[in-house]
Amino acid sequence: EKGGFPSFMAKEIHDQPQAIADTLLGRTDPAGKLVLDEMKVSEAELRSVSKVVIIACGTAAYAGQVARYAIEHWCRIPCEVELAHEFRYRDPVVDERTLVVAISQSGETMDTIMAIRHAREQGAKVLAICNTNGSTIPRESDAALYTHAGPEIAVASTKAFLAQIAACYLLGLYLAQVRGNKFADEIKVVLDELAQIPAQVQEVLDGLEQVRGIARSMADTRSVLFLGRHVGYPVAMEGALKLKELAYIHAEGFAAGELKHGPIALVEEGQPVFVVVPSPRGRDSLHSKVVSNIQEVRARGARTLVIAEQEDTAVEPFADVVIRIPQTSTLLSPLLAVVPLQVFACELAAAKGLDVDQPRNLAKSVTVE
Ligand code: F6R
Repeated sequence: EKGGFPSFMAKEIHDQPQAIADTLLGRTDPAGKLVLDEMKVSEAELRSVSKVVIIACGTAAYAGQVARYAIEHWCRIPCEVELAHEFRYRDPVVDERTLVVAISQSGETMDTIMAIRHAREQGAKVLAICNTNGSTIPRESDAALYTHAGPEIAVASTKAFLAQIAACYLLGLYLAQVRGNKFADEIKVVLDELAQIPAQVQEVLDGLEQVRGIARSMADTRSVLFLGRHVGYPVAMEGALKLKELAYIHAEGFAAGELKHGPIALVEEGQPVFVVVPSPRGRDSLHSKVVSNIQEVRARGARTLVIAEQEDTAVEPFADVVIRIPQTSTLLSPLLAVVPLQVFACELAAAKGLDVDQPRNLAKSVTVE
């Protein structure tokens, strides 16, 4: 069952290249146009969408936060992401022109079910991104786009997360295609890059002995901070969540730009800080800003564990450890950058002798509100 791995989670982390490939499979026609057969929302309706609201919980909500950057960039439609349990209690402004996207691995998360019911009552169209065929969330939605990650047994979500991001990106590209905006020409470029991702995730997985060693040496750690910016921010939060739930270590993910507004006060001698560094080839000054953030925490004694692209030499002077990921575009980088963080949490929890697949106090699907 575990395919020779010590836990389902370890196996599922290694299933990720397949989970992404299967989720992308068969989504284009011979001319390279995206076809989403399951998309039961008409093209006319998609053209009239004035706002996308993504609702989800936990890791699925972080997938939504990553997707938001892509959807806004490609479609130029405002996109909000909200925790499902917060969404329905704040009298959200949604109407017939709102596309609500509910992301859920299990399809049975009660908080998310209640949120989509509320959205539909307001007239919104609801699209489910889900890993479980025939579960409640896709059944109660107007349309469903399935992730094909296969059954996820470990309580902590890994392969479903990557598949959720991939599916959200297909949706974003499809919306851009249907709406025919100026971005439409680039769709094929992104699809080609996406097609490389499974092999690149495999490359990351093949090089993770370094991360395993670091994790094993940190079994006594009391607190770990994670910093990221832009799409690296939800990656940082996901890294922190994995560490909390698996290894019971206090962990927090911050937007790197927020450091000086408070969190930097936490940094003292020896504090481990993971930093997710954006591509140096990316837009604006994002990369150099994050490199400055590494310097800032290191100057205060932090031990910096830096996730950076292969060719990125600028981080080296300020990193205690550099974990390398292959080159891809900024928007796709979370699919690679999160993998070392999953492995770190899994390995550290195992080093503490904890049950990686069944962390205390948690259930695989949360069917109560
Ligand atoms: C974290 C984790 C949870 C789930 C959340 C939503 O590792 O697994 O945070 O992501 O409970 O579950 P689904 O996706 O089934 O709605």
